[in-house]
Amino acid sequence: MRDLAPRLPSSPGFWRSPLRGPRFTSVLGLVLLAGITVLFVTGLLSYAAYNPGLSPVNDKTPDKGLLGFYLFSWPTDPPWLYRLTQGVHVTLGLALVPVLLAKLWSVVPRLFTLPPVRSLAHGLERVSLLLLVGGALFEFVTGVLNVQLDYVFPGSFYPLHFYGAWVFFAAFVAHAVLKAPAAVRNVRSMRDARRRPDAADRAADGLVAPAPDAPTVSRRGALWTVGGGSLLLLGTSAGRSFDGPLRATALLAPHGGAEPGGGPNGFQINKTAAYAGIDAAETSEEAWRLVVVGPAGTVRLARADLLRLPQHSAALPIACVEGWSTSDQSWRGVRLRDLAALAGFDGAPPDVFVESLQRRGAFRHGALRANQVADPRSLLALSVNGRTLSPDHGHPARIIVPAAPGVLNTKWVARMTFGGLG
Ligand code: HEM
Repeated sequence: MRDLAPRLPSSPGFWRSPLRGPRFTSVLGLVLLAGITVLFVTGLLSYAAYNPGLSPVNDKTPDKGLLGFYLFSWPTDPPWLYRLTQGVHVTLGLALVPVLLAKLWSVVPRLFTLPPVRSLAHGLERVSLLLLVGGALFEFVTGVLNVQLDYVFPGSFYPLHFYGAWVFFAAFVAHAVLKAPAAVRNVRSMRDARRRPDAADRAADGLVAPAPDAPTVSRRGALWTVGGGSLLLLGTSAGRSFDGPLRATALLAPHGGAEPGGGPNGFQINKTAAYAGIDAAETSEEAWRLVVVGPAGTVRLARADLLRLPQHSAALPIACVEGWSTSDQSWRGVRLRDLAALAGFDGAPPDVFVESLQRRGAFRHGALRANQVADPRSLLALSVNGRTLSPDHGHPARIIVPAAPGVLNTKWVARMTFGGLG
């Protein structure tokens, strides 16, 4: 039994890396404290940008209850707002993966300590750690899958990532409140520790290996390796938020790489017309009609009718929940507020419910708030960068609204109901 003991993860002799210690854990913990707080805030902002207050139209989490306490009307200024918040959310999330993995590695001996529960208080702390570690892995895995793949996780991404974030963040706050003072102390003691190398480590309980192997890399070297991994992920994903040669540096991003084709319509898209199940016959000049509904009744407009209405231009980006975005494109079409007037709203325009011809994929319909409809830059666009919209960009007509998430800029629009949301 004595021989076997060091082979069990619960025995102190099992974990032999000389790198583990409270200072190593604390440096990584403080980086996570800053980074995950930014992730949580930008995640909540993204949720607000989806306008879930327009339940149940845009809301993929109808039972949010109290968790929706902070929701507000997403502004239309600055027009690059969602580009910034969501670009930061996804890029930072990817860059923090090495830090999270290193932090988990640094504390892994503590997860195997026996007895697993010593008292009620200790039991509660262990449950909070389960939620912390499980929540962190769950949030990072669902986030990365949603960005990288055509989503494969069972169940809809939105409720999983949203509810998971609250569980994870509650455990994170409890952990940070308990550990932050020690983490700051440990990092401060690093200056003294250079003179007395293991001063802080000696006081540690359970992290420092009692019988360490010979070091193959210094702690500083290990921290630089983790930081280098983060920088590599940052450098190979951040480029998808920029145009031109920078986008080609986004090697890890499905919507990164080279521009998807020359020409004025040659900027990124998420779903092609083929994927969305759009039939060319139904978008032809003869077949397609936009149906506008409001107190004035139902108006049916061919594309030629829309072109006879006052045309306006707006320079606006496309910014996707997956973190990629384009710079401003030059859109031209009919103001949403002019269509609201046509539907019978002469004064302040109301919310609008927009339906697409799209057959596959989420967000076949979406709702926009009154402040978005009222903005003079919000258009039902008919052309972009001087050319008619291409099928993949939403021909015959698509919505474009400043600062709105990409999916709310509905493509292949078929019907708009003004003031129908109550
Ligand atoms: C995703 C976020 C995090 C995860 C998954 C995580 C996980 C853990 C786990 C499992 C432990 C061992 C707990 C025990 O048995 O006592 C631990 C310890 C610790 N964590 Fe975290 N943590 C995270 C974030 C943070 C943050 C934000 C800080 C700093 C504010 C921090 C600082 C510490 C410190 C100082 C310890 C104790 C090290 C020692 O024993 O001396 N952690 N962490």
